[in-house]
Amino acid sequence: MNNTSIAGMKRTAMCGELRLSDAGQTVTVNGWVDRVRDNGGVLFLLVRDRAGVIQCTFDKSVNADLFNIAFACRTEFVVAVKGKLVARDEAAVNRKMPTGEVELIAEEIRILSKAETTPFEIDDAKEVGDQVRLKYRYLDLRRPSMQKNLMLRHRVTQVARNYFDENGFLEIETPMLTKSTPEGARDYLVPSRVHPGKFYALPQSPQQYKQLLMLSGVDRYMQITRCFRDEDLRADRQPEFTQIDLEMSFVEQDDVIAVNEGFLKRVFKEVLDVDIQLPLPRLTWREAMDRFGSDKPDTRFGFEIKDISDIAAKCGFGVFSGAVEAGGTVRLININGYADKFPRKEIDKLADFVKTYRAKGLAWMKLAADGSMTSSFAKFLTEDEVAAIKERADMHENDVLFVVADPSEETALVSLGALRCELAKRLGLAKKDEYKLLWVTEFPQFEYSEEEDRLVAKHHPFTAPMDEDIALLETDPKAVRAKAYDIILNGCELGGGSIRIHDSELQTRMFRALGFTEEKAKEQFGHLITAFSYGAPPHGGLAYGLDRLCMLLAGLDSIRDVIAFPKVQNASDLMMSCPDTVDGKQLDELSIAVTRVERTDGEA
Ligand code: AMO
Ligand code: AMP
Repeated sequence: MNNTSIAGMKRTAMCGELRLSDAGQTVTVNGWVDRVRDNGGVLFLLVRDRAGVIQCTFDKSVNADLFNIAFACRTEFVVAVKGKLVARDEAAVNRKMPTGEVELIAEEIRILSKAETTPFEIDDAKEVGDQVRLKYRYLDLRRPSMQKNLMLRHRVTQVARNYFDENGFLEIETPMLTKSTPEGARDYLVPSRVHPGKFYALPQSPQQYKQLLMLSGVDRYMQITRCFRDEDLRADRQPEFTQIDLEMSFVEQDDVIAVNEGFLKRVFKEVLDVDIQLPLPRLTWREAMDRFGSDKPDTRFGFEIKDISDIAAKCGFGVFSGAVEAGGTVRLININGYADKFPRKEIDKLADFVKTYRAKGLAWMKLAADGSMTSSFAKFLTEDEVAAIKERADMHENDVLFVVADPSEETALVSLGALRCELAKRLGLAKKDEYKLLWVTEFPQFEYSEEEDRLVAKHHPFTAPMDEDIALLETDPKAVRAKAYDIILNGCELGGGSIRIHDSELQTRMFRALGFTEEKAKEQFGHLITAFSYGAPPHGGLAYGLDRLCMLLAGLDSIRDVIAFPKVQNASDLMMSCPDTVDGKQLDELSIAVTRVERTDGEA
């Protein structure tokens, strides 16, 4: 039997760390065979570990036995190679490899483990389908780009732990088996064996626990914790994801913002060596909606939304005047400097794009570089009205305006907001290495839920209303603004938080405004209501989506690439094949009868 033990062949250096300054040393490396190159009599094994790749050289004329062992190696074999590190001949230097100035002249090799042909090559340059990548995630993670993502994520969590520790935060774990609460996304439930018919819920966030810790006098809490939400998945959403979660006592909004700006500055510096200018810009929710048509505005590019309702109200174009008459609005964006990028055919397709955001159509006006104008609506307007719109839009040669008129202000804003981002993306203006951070503040306290036909908390029911709006809780709840804030990076909601209600009387009014009867509030939140009756400090906090933060820092489009073992669109884990059925005995113990089982084709 061949010796496959590591004894005597333990590494003395990481493959990817060897440099010219190490030349002359005898080193042992351990790793995977990345590539085998046979140069007729001279064999090159590229050996890979977490740090990178080193070329190991075997010369048949020097040692034929050694050469033959290396010759038997295939890619992904696990090997240990010992030898002398030497400078490469000038002609053989590979500037593309960090270790390209040196090579390891092998004196000993041991095959520690053989490998079957892998389902895909471990090579960043090769496109591999998502399904295969995730089924063999452990192989996917061998790719250097994925290793880099794991290292970046590690760096971010270390910075978070250090920074918050230095600022007096205690890291405290909170339970994973907890109680289902009605607000927010759908819960993941865990049946109790000991209490038949009863269930735990996995936490959607540690929100209640961290508030209770403030009542315990912990003063400053942080946790890097898993959260579970059974919601539809997207590129930036997973059923289980990680938050950097924090809470602080005796603070106001500005205090929470200041601590977090310090954290963000530190992360960008330590992870990317990028300097973030503080303080970060702040926009109220209203301003963000009006100017960018989004509560998470991307400010890497302009194209801000302008209101032309006043000009359009009395114009001869029914689509415009009708919308204003119906209590709605007419808004536009100016894609300034890019009119030549939008031929008529292209514009017609954009109308379909905004329709997915409920807009009924897209009107446009284009001023070519030669000064000639074309438009879908100008012919219905007077010269003065056209001139007024051009002035409002600050329109010049080679600009194109896109206009949405709608009885709903929200529809007009949101559809144009989505269009401005889409066009910036197509024009290459959403650069991944430009970082625009900002706070959005003064969110509405409530939003209307179509599903429940009532007002629900936009953030959560413990969020404090702005002092000047408290009186509106009973008279005009829709107008109440909250002491809630989101941190936005390049159009992505990185985190969110709020100042909490610490006064039981105000909390009772809040539950009432949310339509909870006193009994229902007691049933759902009795433990909190009681806790708050024993002396609660003013407090507030915030939680970051760690996965999103890492995704953006790594310049990626999906949080899957910064999660070691993520789930796919339908929330299953392709590698472990779960969720899965369990045997009848397990179900019996849990007093559970299954009434419907998914077939293998995915149908229930
Ligand atoms: P919120 O629900 O806004 O706040 O969540 C905080 C942040 O978590 C991230 N996030 C997600 N990331 C990946 N997949 C998901 N399904 C997902 N859902 C949310 C987002 C978001 O900004 N307890 C409050 C925080 C507080 O008030 O202190 C909370 O959970 O980046
Ligand atoms: P129509 O009168 O439907 O032929 O539309 C004339 C132009 O107005 C076309 O360019 C439509 O895309 C556009 N249009 C229609 N409805 C709207 C709307 N609600 N907002 C903006 N433009 C619209």
